[in-house]
Amino acid sequence: MGSSPLAADIHASVPLIAPSLLACDFGQLAREVQRLGEAGAQVLHLDVMDGHFVPNISFGIPIVEAIRRATDLALDVHLMISEPDRYVEAFRKAGADMLTFHIEVEPEPADLLRKVRRLGAAAGLSLNPSTPTDALRPYLTECDLVLVMSVMPGFGGQKFQPVALDKLRRLREAAGPDLLLSIDGGVDADTIVACAGAGADVFVMGTAFFRRQDYRQHLEALTHLARSGKNGRV
Ligand code: DX5
Ligand code: ZN
Repeated sequence: MGSSPLAADIHASVPLIAPSLLACDFGQLAREVQRLGEAGAQVLHLDVMDGHFVPNISFGIPIVEAIRRATDLALDVHLMISEPDRYVEAFRKAGADMLTFHIEVEPEPADLLRKVRRLGAAAGLSLNPSTPTDALRPYLTECDLVLVMSVMPGFGGQKFQPVALDKLRRLREAAGPDLLLSIDGGVDADTIVACAGAGADVFVMGTAFFRRQDYRQHLEALTHLARSGKNGRV
């Protein structure tokens, strides 16, 4: 199903924690990125918000470029923007390796998913907690990854909504083992095990990750929890 070599690489290393830089110290951005690399992170999650699709503004193309200059890690760019088609090329040029946009703004996403793959990035679709998984079903073969939102997108630090677990299960069942499934929003040491058990491969973590300073130890402990969830052990 996945046509992106990067998605295949990531698949081989799951479960993976993807720190969401939204919660890092932006005043020390390059240093934060470097520390995450040294700690063993493989994927960084970058939240792009436009103040239109979501009621918040974060950062855009120049910051993705700056992060690209600071690291070789895979950049997983989550576009929470209204017109992703206008910007995917620019984000790819800026250094995005994975480009995910929302089904709510592209109800017929096949062409855009293909465009993202043609640009050489892994193509991702995301859905809000209120959007049913059926909306994505016809397009799963065009996706390298699906990012399940367990909070309304726009802000870090929100409470995990368990409706996401059911979505992970349904998507895993519909797509089979090859699709990368990410979970985003309110993931912490308490919720990660259930997410892994429901089929998630990549765990986006902002607030709960950056609460601690010992990135390496934290990454290892969280990966261990995710692995135990995947194996059905707690
Ligand atoms: C929310 C973003 C998330 C956010 C997650 O709209 O898509 O990636 O950074 O943050 P936490 O882990 O704090 O919920
Ligand atoms: Zn995100």
